Amino acid sequence: MKSREIANNVFYVGVNDRQKALFENIWPLPHGVSYNSYLILDEKTVLVDTVDICYSDLFLKKIAILLNGRSLDYLIVDHMEPDHAGSIRLLRQQYPDVQIVGNSKTFGMLDGFHGIKDGLHEVKEGDTLNIGSRSLQFYMAAMVHWPEVMFTYDPQNKILFSADAFGTYGTLDGGVLDTEINVDRFWDEMERYYTNIVGKYGSPVQKALQKASALDIETICSTHGPVWRQYLKKAVSIYDRLSRYAGEDGVTIVYGSMYGYTEQMAEAVAYALVENGVKNIAMHNVSKSHASYILRDVFKYKGLIIGSPTYSNQLFPEVESVLSKIEIRDVKNRLFGYFGSFAWSGASVKLLTAFGEKMKWEVVGTPVEQKQGFTPDSYEACLELGKAMANRLKQ
Ligand code: FEO
Repeated sequence: MKSREIANNVFYVGVNDRQKALFENIWPLPHGVSYNSYLILDEKTVLVDTVDICYSDLFLKKIAILLNGRSLDYLIVDHMEPDHAGSIRLLRQQYPDVQIVGNSKTFGMLDGFHGIKDGLHEVKEGDTLNIGSRSLQFYMAAMVHWPEVMFTYDPQNKILFSADAFGTYGTLDGGVLDTEINVDRFWDEMERYYTNIVGKYGSPVQKALQKASALDIETICSTHGPVWRQYLKKAVSIYDRLSRYAGEDGVTIVYGSMYGYTEQMAEAVAYALVENGVKNIAMHNVSKSHASYILRDVFKYKGLIIGSPTYSNQLFPEVESVLSKIEIRDVKNRLFGYFGSFAWSGASVKLLTAFGEKMKWEVVGTPVEQKQGFTPDSYEACLELGKAMANRLKQ
């Protein structure tokens, strides 16, 4: 079994997960996901992160082959979420003398998840660890995506081990480095991964990006997806744009509809958007699209138009569920249009008004409220709403 050497004595020892249907038991994995781990063979042997416990056996085998009888001196834990830290207890059983490198928050979690209290080597911001021909450096990156997250920097190879940052869904099908594979299929999945998993933490991601910009980085080794070298700048720019909530020109239309009347409103809005020059439109029926994809598009585009029937005097439940996910991620600066419907007493438009106010979004156009069937008046009002959004986007 061969492991890819991604830089001088740095080997990829991660694994692919093509079995789980849902990441975190929430988010669809149509193209799987990789759990990345890296082994550095210097005078000391150093492992950076582990993998999900489901893959421990394969993972430990890869490490043993590369160590070829040497002991494992250090395990650096950049992130304690179990998709990476899941194999730590088994690794410790295999290598009882391994010193675990982390910060004080890491060690609290290490005890909580694995009952490990000793053999620890604590590092703080800017600390170094000499491993022979180089000294690794450590930088705290709290809340990218948990509080204990830190980055490890290898100055000899100019590699940043970045935990979840710059990660993406999608398995590594034979290749690890972005120079040896076609990476086109990862960009959409990177946006979906970011918005699903890290999306709430835009401000900590911006701080971490600023910190990383002071380092001379040629390669980024994230815990998910390809090792970034040729496309490093593109990966960084995607994380930068998304963490600033900077939407591109375009509109996401999110709607619920029980019998098609609210859907006709959405269709009219979309028609008017295109009629007035908007080319990028992502349209989601909440009963069909998984929230994972809706979130990706809400982050992608500046314009957001939401439509909902009134249901038990509330919003349509699936619309409400999506709104909650948007609110949790504190999505900023969207241009917001909305419409709603009811059969005998309207609530959805009122509730969407309140939602827009809570999010501090700019309201565009006049909200449309429709009683019962889709009327010519509703149709015209929906066209006006679409036109208003298109004109606002042109400003
Ligand atoms: Fe890939 Fe936050 O764990």
